[in-house]
Amino acid sequence: MGIFLLWSLFLLGLLTGPGASRAPMVVTGTLGGSVTLPLKLQDGQQVESISWVCRSVPGAIATVTLVEAGGPYTFHQAESRYWGRLSVVGPERSLQISHLSWADAGSYRVHVNLWSSRATHTREYSLHVYEQLAQPRVRVSTRISGNGHCLIILTCMAESRGGAVTYSWTPLGPQTAVSHGGSVLSVTLRPRDSTLNFTCMVKNPVSNSSSLPILVPPSCTGPGILGGEESVGETVIGTLGKSATLPLEVPVGQEVEKVTWSSRGLVAILQPGPAGEPILVAGTQGPYNQRLSIPRHNYSLQISSLRLQDSGPYRAWITLHSPPINITKDFILHVYERLQEPKITVSSQIMKDGTCFITLICSLDQPGEDVQYSWDPRGQGAIVSHGGTTLSVSWRFGVSDSYHCTVKNPISQSSSSIPVRPLCSGSFLPCCLRKEFLLFLILGALQIK
Ligand SMILES: *[C@@H]1O[C@H](CO)[C@@H](O)[C@H](O)[C@H]1NC(C)=O
Ligand SMILES: *[C@@H]1O[C@H](CO)[C@@H](O)[C@H](O)[C@H]1NC(C)=O
Ligand SMILES: *[C@@H]1O[C@H](CO)[C@@H](O)[C@H](O)[C@H]1NC(C)=O
Ligand SMILES: *[C@@H]1O[C@H](CO)[C@@H](O)[C@H](O)[C@H]1NC(C)=O
Repeated sequence: MGIFLLWSLFLLGLLTGPGASRAPMVVTGTLGGSVTLPLKLQDGQQVESISWVCRSVPGAIATVTLVEAGGPYTFHQAESRYWGRLSVVGPERSLQISHLSWADAGSYRVHVNLWSSRATHTREYSLHVYEQLAQPRVRVSTRISGNGHCLIILTCMAESRGGAVTYSWTPLGPQTAVSHGGSVLSVTLRPRDSTLNFTCMVKNPVSNSSSLPILVPPSCTGPGILGGEESVGETVIGTLGKSATLPLEVPVGQEVEKVTWSSRGLVAILQPGPAGEPILVAGTQGPYNQRLSIPRHNYSLQISSLRLQDSGPYRAWITLHSPPINITKDFILHVYERLQEPKITVSSQIMKDGTCFITLICSLDQPGEDVQYSWDPRGQGAIVSHGGTTLSVSWRFGVSDSYHCTVKNPISQSSSSIPVRPLCSGSFLPCCLRKEFLLFLILGALQIK
């Protein structure tokens, strides 16, 4: 009797009858790979039919039908986004889904009819899809000295589009502290320490991957850190009139006394407020008046209504209570204006033997910094000069009808074009010449009068 009861409970646990609810079975798969939604049957359980259902698709996505107990079966796939990717595997006839995509993640259900009973047994699955993680990169975001100590902040970056990634660092010890969910490692070094060899590992339920070894020398002033991407003097790009944030991480476990932001002069001083949240204690006067704010929970500085004059070097001084050291971090802020449409002018035009030699100049009223000019089409024999602004071409009928000039800066791009046919149709006078000619005529007319 006891054995019978246990057996019945066991059976019930494997396949649940209608009405009973049970936590779905979690199944994980790799993007692009295959996954099996397992069907566990007891010996002796004879299947009559199986149908597989996915919550996001109407009707069954696949069915298995047996003509007689234990006999051969027919497998039917319904037309759906699973078409061609489903198969039945193993003696239990579990469902396999191949070429997994992000969209396949979700709830599935199987309904099983047995020859021996009239009830339909149901089982639920929750499919999670994860991608194979690539090698993470490590950025050295701060590397600073003070009082013979050296403080280094390493940030591990996983490139992952789906699901949770966990980070771990090796080795850990009294000199290290981990924060930001494990992705950031702060290391405090003294000169007599030896070079440390760190590795960051990223992991998700289907894969793991380790960074290259990061060799950290004990001195901040000595040779650089190998293996990481050093970003001392981080570049921040802003758009005129918009806002930009200079991001600052403060090493964990360190008590901040204040953070001083400076550029050509003092910009702002931030201090921990009553609740430990940073507050702005200076910087409410001068050119940054009313334009500074601090994002919650950290000492980053946000400058709004950006002006072109805000461009330049910025430095954050972090003064810590203990150890009493200063950490500095440098930034370069570039503020750019959205580019207007460039102007194309014709500087010369010569007709010779049916060929038209033209020189076009692309210009902007307010070019600003870091503007790149390009011409299209370049064609054979086209010469681009003067930093890309000038295009000299020999043009014939039947070649491209117009030339485009594109201007680009880090935040915007704009282009204009000029039709060539009218320029080369003989009666053309270059624009500027024509203006002068007109002026000459007018002056001449005035003279006569
Ligand atoms: C750093 O550690 C890795 C493995 O963790 C090892 O392969 C590598 O040789 C080490 N590099 C140095 C210079 O010790
Ligand atoms: C990382 O993945 C490999 C297989 O790719 C596995 O053998 C190893 O145990 C995993 N390591 C950790 C720490 O999960
Ligand atoms: C600072 O806080 C803001 C807003 O909470 C956040 O977007 C930013 O990533 C944080 N910066 C750092 C360096 O932690
Ligand atoms: C830290 O910087 C302040 C100026 O902001 C300076 O007065 C102080 O001496 C510095 N301390 C150390 C330990 O370098």
